[in-house]
Amino acid sequence: MREFTEENLTEAVVERFGNTPDPRLKLLITSLVRHLHAYVREVEPTFDEWMAAIQFLTRTGQICTEKRQEFILLSDTLGISMLVDAINHRNRDGVTETTVLGPFYVENPPEVPLGSDVTGGLKGDPLYAEGTVCAPNGKPLANAIVDIWQSDADGFYDVQYADRTEAGLRARFRTDADGRFQFWSVMPTSYPIPYDGPVGDMLKATNRHPYRPAHLHFLIAADGYETLITHLFVDGDRYLDSDAVFGVKKSLIRTYTRENPGVAPDGREMTRLWYRLSNDFRLKAAQPDRAAARQA
Ligand SMILES: [Fe+2]
Repeated sequence: MREFTEENLTEAVVERFGNTPDPRLKLLITSLVRHLHAYVREVEPTFDEWMAAIQFLTRTGQICTEKRQEFILLSDTLGISMLVDAINHRNRDGVTETTVLGPFYVENPPEVPLGSDVTGGLKGDPLYAEGTVCAPNGKPLANAIVDIWQSDADGFYDVQYADRTEAGLRARFRTDADGRFQFWSVMPTSYPIPYDGPVGDMLKATNRHPYRPAHLHFLIAADGYETLITHLFVDGDRYLDSDAVFGVKKSLIRTYTRENPGVAPDGREMTRLWYRLSNDFRLKAAQPDRAAARQA
């Protein structure tokens, strides 16, 4: 074909990918071409609009660093992260539901003993969090990895403090022989996702607020089970119905109970009010890899 027209261009581009050896890659890319072309046909962008889109994506990449992931924020705020999550985590009967990883996870957080205080000098009302990690039948899973991370009372994660290099409100635990874990941190608060970049510009231009309801993040891994990425949301938070990244699920909302001064479960003398969170996580048995299953 020599003459490419508005009518035949899409098929011509799809055909050009016809020799892609990997069939999955071929589907991923030709479907992307078809959907992008359909979008352009529908909205008929001007050259200025098309260039504005390119500049938006360019700024999204340029603001990314090791500690700032603007593309995840973009995916989150467009609901794509939750859609990918939903498609990959159907059938959660009897196991804990999942939600977005979010942009603030840092791989290999410092491993600390059970019962540690992970506050690292960040502010907030004390929180004693405890729980178990179990198989779907309730069998406790010993030596499971439990990564936790969360915001402080001002709504910031440790990585958002420019002058800070050490971890705070972020740690890794290993469950004990009974599948149990426990630690001290602070009450998480609702917080705005970073909105001083291109994603923030999008939210402002569309009259959307940037807030997420308060939550504690968990990433839980055990041999033979799917890694669980989830949050536990604080019941009563004003943003539960309008999470900027669409991450809320009813089954993940918990009461963080307010406790009076006294002796905490680990014997710590509390001279002020504190909060307590208990949760039992159930992991799903590992399934054969979906991509491998598709090829079989
Ligand atoms: Fe978060």
